Amino acid sequence: MFNKIKNVLGNPFYENEDSIIYNMDCLEGLKILRDNNIKIDSTITSPPYNIGKEYENIKPVNDFVNWITEISDLIYDITKSNGCYLLNVGYMEVPNKGRAVPITYLLWDKLKFYLNQEIIWNYGAGVAAKNYLSPRNEKILWYIKNYENYTFNLDDIRDPDVKYPNQKKNGKLRCNTLGKNPSDVWQIAKVTSGANRSSEERTDHPAQFPVDLITRMVLGFTNQNNLVLDPFMGSGTTAEVCMKNNRKSIGFEIREDYCQTIKNRLENVIKQEEIKAMSPTLFQF
Ligand SMILES: C[S@@+](CC[C@H](N)C(=O)[O-])C[C@H]1O[C@@H](n2cnc3c(N)ncnc32)[C@H](O)[C@@H]1O
Repeated sequence: MFNKIKNVLGNPFYENEDSIIYNMDCLEGLKILRDNNIKIDSTITSPPYNIGKEYENIKPVNDFVNWITEISDLIYDITKSNGCYLLNVGYMEVPNKGRAVPITYLLWDKLKFYLNQEIIWNYGAGVAAKNYLSPRNEKILWYIKNYENYTFNLDDIRDPDVKYPNQKKNGKLRCNTLGKNPSDVWQIAKVTSGANRSSEERTDHPAQFPVDLITRMVLGFTNQNNLVLDPFMGSGTTAEVCMKNNRKSIGFEIREDYCQTIKNRLENVIKQEEIKAMSPTLFQF
């Protein structure tokens, strides 16, 4: 599966049957993929937000926007014509303009992709602010290449929490039995840390995606056996969700310590799968 990629990118930091991971600057890796005409189906990612987290150096605003645009343009070039680019971003300071400017405002029309929809990710826990409202959302820009041909598996992501599931019109159920359209506002808990409130899925990465968030993206916007890219892997949530849902993934992560976190995490998925396979009756419900 990954031979063509290995021929051009060299030996990965880690690979298994479903995933391949490079400890590399994604800008460098993406250029090599583009120059060698290697295609991916879709991308699910969250870049640094230019807010001084431990894995980033704050850049001047224009440099940050140009950097994300350059990476996104390379992603466009290597994406198949029916693929998508799901870009999760938050807020950053724009000096003398705004304390927390939605990064979507800076980026949305700079990319070659077509913006299909903006998804709002709303979560309960977070920073408790005193001088402004406590922030409780981030955005996901759902970009596609071709608005006449893109993947949207609505039935795979329907929300079963329907208020009146048995309501009928002319004798027919009004509601789809699989549930309702999940809408463009997704209420999904953040991965939390700290004594007594740490999420079970928590790794040592400071900005980890929740598995539930990525699962909805993988199921809704990609197909089985697709190759999904995450150029900013962090703790490897995209790769884990792909493994669990019959997709392949390729990713880049610039920090070696995080690559080790990803490796441990994916090896753990394999172990869990092996345990499940050995004792299937324990996992029947
Ligand atoms: C917001 S975090 C991603 C978190 C991830 N979504 C998860 O679930 O854990 C961004 C990651 O991008 C990595 N990164 C920053 N610049 C990079 C680059 N040029 N190439 C590859 N990775 C980079 C950082 O080290 C960090 O781990």
